This record gives sequence, structure tokens and C-alpha cells, in this order.
Amino acid sequence: MRVGVLTGGGDCPGLNAVIRAVVRKGVQTHGFELVGYRDGWRGPLEGLTMPLGVEQCRGILPRGGTILGSSRTNPFGVEGGVERIRENLAADGVDALVAIGGEDTLGVATRLAELGVDVVGVPKTIDNDLSGTDFTFGFDTAVNIATEAIDRLHTTAESHHRVLVVEVMGRHAGWIALHSGIAGGASEVLIPEQPFDIDDVCRRVETRFQTQYAPIIVVAEGAVPADGSGMTLTSGEKDAFGHVRLGGIGDRLAAEIEQRTGKEARAVVLGHVQRGGTPTAFDRWLATRFGLHAIDAVADGAFGTMMALRGTRIERVPLAEGTGELKVVSAEEYAEAQVFFG
Ligand code: F6P
Repeated sequence: MRVGVLTGGGDCPGLNAVIRAVVRKGVQTHGFELVGYRDGWRGPLEGLTMPLGVEQCRGILPRGGTILGSSRTNPFGVEGGVERIRENLAADGVDALVAIGGEDTLGVATRLAELGVDVVGVPKTIDNDLSGTDFTFGFDTAVNIATEAIDRLHTTAESHHRVLVVEVMGRHAGWIALHSGIAGGASEVLIPEQPFDIDDVCRRVETRFQTQYAPIIVVAEGAVPADGSGMTLTSGEKDAFGHVRLGGIGDRLAAEIEQRTGKEARAVVLGHVQRGGTPTAFDRWLATRFGLHAIDAVADGAFGTMMALRGTRIERVPLAEGTGELKVVSAEEYAEAQVFFG
């Protein structure tokens, strides 16, 4: 059997660990031949392949990024895209695909599986917002990077009696903000799921200073003010999946707090630092297990499924279950962090 592997969407620590596990078990246990498709769905769409054997996977376990490259190409947005994918898979002698990606990449996999393409999915995103799985790999690394940044920013906030606003990733879900905010002892965590009241935020800033502490506010990039007063800045640009490029809430918030409270406020935007570099041990462990189970699913003909972490077990769930609905932070989970606000 010949199996194609691709990685799509934003890069994420642990992608190479999945690829390595798929290849090692695919070759050693199942006797498969693997082929790499370059740059997400652009690979099968345009027939861009690369050799993918045990040799290409040496030394990649701790490396960030993806040796296959990535893109946000959406074959359903391209005239005749699905047919071109079918033709290229046939021309490359590829019988099945392992697609490693988030909401968008696996959304394409879901639709292709419904159209009869043999595909197995592996959930990836630092945002941890895919349903069906307890965690996605990449999230733990992002949370650790954000937590270290918050730890370091505490010292400047305290020494200079400043408000520090830390903007982290999270377009629709505040998981990174919530986990790093709790771990880093933030005095406020603002997430997309819970629109915030700027007056309340400023009141808690004042309280924090009164108790001789300096406020650290962790804000997810997709957080919005409750009254929708336009504090979120967007560039207006959209990607192939129609997502608006976000950015700017941290700076806007810092300016607003400074103007309303008279306290000096600065913003730090962590951006792609959260996705870069070497994965944590947890992410390497999870990514490796996802890869091992994904290639077993191919061997069993369990197409249209996605690997999912349930407790400590890796299970197969229908792809549609992982991509149908985003997993967001509940009001109860947010309330746990609120105990420490102000
Ligand atoms: O999907 C992961 C993610 O990190 C989102 O949180 C963020 O909005 C997006 O990627 C940004 O990615 P890029 O800058 O590559 O478009």
C-alpha cells in the first residue's frame, strides 16, 4: 500500500513527531510505502510530492515546523479541485492519505472522505479548539511558551508599576489564554467566549494596584468588548478559508486602560513565537501516539476517522465529530480563573 501524508494550516510543534511515527510504523509494521505531499492540500492538488521514508525522518522528533511544508490551500475553493486531487492520487499510485491539520484541513478531509477519498485525520492546533479530542498536540507547547512570557513580564510590571497586557493566540477559543493565565497568575484573562466589560477590567486594574501588585492581563486575539464597541482591530484581509486576519486587541486594550485609569500600560503580542521551536515532551508523546494510531487506522481501512485523545487512550472518532463544532471554554471553566481576577 502507498500512503500519502500531508500537513495543513498553521505550523504547530509536534507535526514532525506525527510524520515520524506514521512513517516508522507504516514501514516497519505494515510494510507500507509513504509519500510526502508538500504544503497541505496544495500537494495533492498540484501533484507536489517528496520522498518520505525512515531516512527523511531521522532527527526530526524535536524539530518544530513541518518537513512537508504547510499552506492554507482549500481545494473546495478551486475549480475542479476535488477531481484534480483524485487524478493526482491515482497518478502517484497513492491508495490512502493521512491528513494532519486543524479545523480547516480536517474540514477538507471530512468532505473528501464523504466523496469517497480514503483519508484518516490527525488533529493539530495550538488553539486546542477541535471537538472530539481532549487535547490537540501543540497546545501544551504554546501554553508553556505563554506562561514563561507571563512569568517574565511580572517582574517588569511590578518594578515599573505598569499594566502589562499579553496578547496570545486564540481566534474563537480562549484555551491558551485560560491555561497560561491560570499557570502564570494573571490578574485578568479575556477570551472570545466571554465578551468583556472595559469598565470592569479598569476597576480591577485599580484594585490590583491598591493591593501593591501590578496587573497582568492575558487577552486572546479574538476577545471582544461586550458592547461591541469596535475595540478589535482587523486588517480586513481574509485567507482561503475566509478567516479575517486578527490582531490588535492587546494594543487597543492597553491604550484604553491607560487612558481610563491614568496608569501606564504596555502590550506584548506573543504571535507566532507560540507556534515556533521545539515541542514539549507532552506534545511529542501525544503527536507520536496520534501518528502510530493513524497509520494503524489506515491499515484497518478505518477511513473517515480522526484520532482523538480520550483520557489516556487514543480512539478513532468520525472526522465530522472533530470538525463539526469548535470546542470552546465553558462558563464554568472560565469561572475558575475569575477567582483570581483583580
Ligand atoms: O490556528 C492556529 C492559529 O495560531 C490561530 O490561533 C491564529 O489565529 C492563526 O493560527 C494565525 O495564523 P497565521 O498567522 O499563520 O495566519
